[in-house]
Amino acid sequence: MKKSIDFIRNGFLYGGDYNPDQWLDRPDVLKEDLRLMKKSGVNVVSLGIFAWSALEPEEGVFRFEWLDRVFDDLNRSGIRVFLATPSGARPGWMAAKYPEVLRVGSDGKRNLFGIRHNHCFSSPVYREKTAEINGKLAERYASHPAVILWHISNEYSGGCHCELCQENFRNWLKNRYGDLDSLNKAWWNAFWSHTVTDWNHIHSPVPHGEPMLHGLNLDWKRFVTDMTVDFMEAEIAAVHTVRPDLPVTTNLMAGVENSEHDPGLDYWKFRDKFDFASWDSYPGWHLPGYQAFSLDIPESPVDDYRRASEVAFQHDLFRSLTGGPFLLMESTPSAVNWRPLSKPKKPGLNILSGLQAVAHGANSVQYFQWRKSRGGFEKYHGAVVGHDGTENTRIFREAAELGSLLDKMRPIADTDYPARTALVYNWENRWVFEDSRGALNGPRKAYLETVRKHYFCLWDSGVPMDIISGEEDLSGYDLVVAPMLHMVGKTCEKRIREFVEAGGLFFTTYQSGYVDESDLCFEGAVPGPLRDILGITCEELDVLNPREQAEILPSVEMESFFPNGTGIATDFCEVVQVQSARSLARFRGSLADGAPALTVNDFGKGSAWYLAGRLDADSLKGLYRHLIKRAGTASVHDRLAARDETVSVQVRSSGDKKYLFLMNFAPKEAVVRTVKSYMDFLNPGEPKSEWILPGWGVAILE
Ligand code: GAL
Repeated sequence: MKKSIDFIRNGFLYGGDYNPDQWLDRPDVLKEDLRLMKKSGVNVVSLGIFAWSALEPEEGVFRFEWLDRVFDDLNRSGIRVFLATPSGARPGWMAAKYPEVLRVGSDGKRNLFGIRHNHCFSSPVYREKTAEINGKLAERYASHPAVILWHISNEYSGGCHCELCQENFRNWLKNRYGDLDSLNKAWWNAFWSHTVTDWNHIHSPVPHGEPMLHGLNLDWKRFVTDMTVDFMEAEIAAVHTVRPDLPVTTNLMAGVENSEHDPGLDYWKFRDKFDFASWDSYPGWHLPGYQAFSLDIPESPVDDYRRASEVAFQHDLFRSLTGGPFLLMESTPSAVNWRPLSKPKKPGLNILSGLQAVAHGANSVQYFQWRKSRGGFEKYHGAVVGHDGTENTRIFREAAELGSLLDKMRPIADTDYPARTALVYNWENRWVFEDSRGALNGPRKAYLETVRKHYFCLWDSGVPMDIISGEEDLSGYDLVVAPMLHMVGKTCEKRIREFVEAGGLFFTTYQSGYVDESDLCFEGAVPGPLRDILGITCEELDVLNPREQAEILPSVEMESFFPNGTGIATDFCEVVQVQSARSLARFRGSLADGAPALTVNDFGKGSAWYLAGRLDADSLKGLYRHLIKRAGTASVHDRLAARDETVSVQVRSSGDKKYLFLMNFAPKEAVVRTVKSYMDFLNPGEPKSEWILPGWGVAILE
């Protein structure tokens, strides 16, 4: 579905979640909101996200007068609206009258009324009530001149284990497998006498039942994603009864955190369901204990440059979901309130992080929330307007400065983020790999961290990237990287094969090509269907103790790319035999001693590279220098003569227009020298080639 999304190309959208329903008894506050919004450059708000109880205080009794007033006031002030459907939290009367709308946990207990996101996507009542309120909102507001976008629900996440969901799950399985024989084969149910003889015997995976059947676990996660998508589509259908041309989005969560912020959904399945993706970004700026790089990139106590790479990864992921501009739907102008410790953004960082989103292809910067609530769970969460209610705060001043910068940047809004390199991040792959029990279990398997480490090496080399599922057409790329591609489905195999045959450079690593889409091990050697493409087989796997290391000794041709002479392998060392491939490095130590650690295979017009051990970050970066060159893929760093290492450089372009973003993710000044001279877009003057960025500073080069 591609609706008219011109508005997103015409200029940057700037604003945030606006919750006037919390202030209905304070017309003075609502009036002041408008003045302050204008003052800070806000041109759009997300409205009504959790407003169901204000919209329908009793069953069937609807109150829209307050929203009419808010709409008209916003419209008079030239502020546009992302109109939300309120399904993220249901009113108390509904839970009391129809307990089926509440979720059942994996312990089989139905939740009481409370919190948000506590609703069953199978419940016919919840679906009916949601369709009703969505339809009423559409009838009343879809044609209102202020509305430009539907904001569907809020951060869909989690699942439910009630009887209705069990029933839907069984039907979903019937649809997928047709008969029990096929299901039993796909789940390998002869093992532990698990053969299913009646569909009704199937239950969702729960701790006191069956948590260890990998096929069941995988299908349950797929089902939860499909149910959520189905629910979302029903919501969209309900709002599209009026003005089906009005675009839709839903605000997605970070989605790749190993934390309670993992929604448990496969976002690749959402990609063609909305007009563009939007996401909520809350990185832990200024905090130590940087998770993604705990693997082996030496960690400084606080390293915001590396954190910036994690955020960049997510921007690239969400941009890649729909391919065009995306929306940064939420962020905090200062601190969040839900981490054990949350530091306010240092002066300058709010502007920098907002522009970082733009540099990666976002056409909006939005906050949660516009005005701080006086009570409730998020009363201390950062907001543009604090409890003091004034514009006389650093946070407000910086927000206003960003507003005026975005306004100046209007000509950049119709540019794109061009990428010729793609990195595979696949949720199903992550699920099956994390669920599997092998020689190394627990956090050191680190699929996500490994993907982020590879991302960091490329990002730090100035390579613009798309993040892909692995099932897309790859013909637009020079270089495709798929770390730890444990599961290789048929489409994925086909795409890789076509890509390399046509001349692409494909790079993958240890732990790839083990299982098919059903999480069944391939018959024949690892890496399964990638064997002939990579020209290797892998016979055995050694895993190393926490402080154990093996060495990786490069061949003469690769020596110059290993900055420390030899590389260090940790955690995984596979024993590989080359078939048609050439070995470019060997292991010293571990069971793989003497065996190839890095191989390349010429296949069709391209080449396929395989790394058999978990390589240290320095050497991996060196290896990427070589791969980038070999693939002939673009790096923005080609335009630079020198760069201080805390500066990230990104480019947005279209036709002849090109804008380089230089972003300094550190408190101290940094310098970048460009090969050619550029205009300073934000501070026009003479063209120049030396760029001095203050701490947390940004420059845009035209
Ligand atoms: C988001 C959510 C918002 C708010 C915010 C606080 O995940 O969508 O409603 O709770 O977190 O950081």
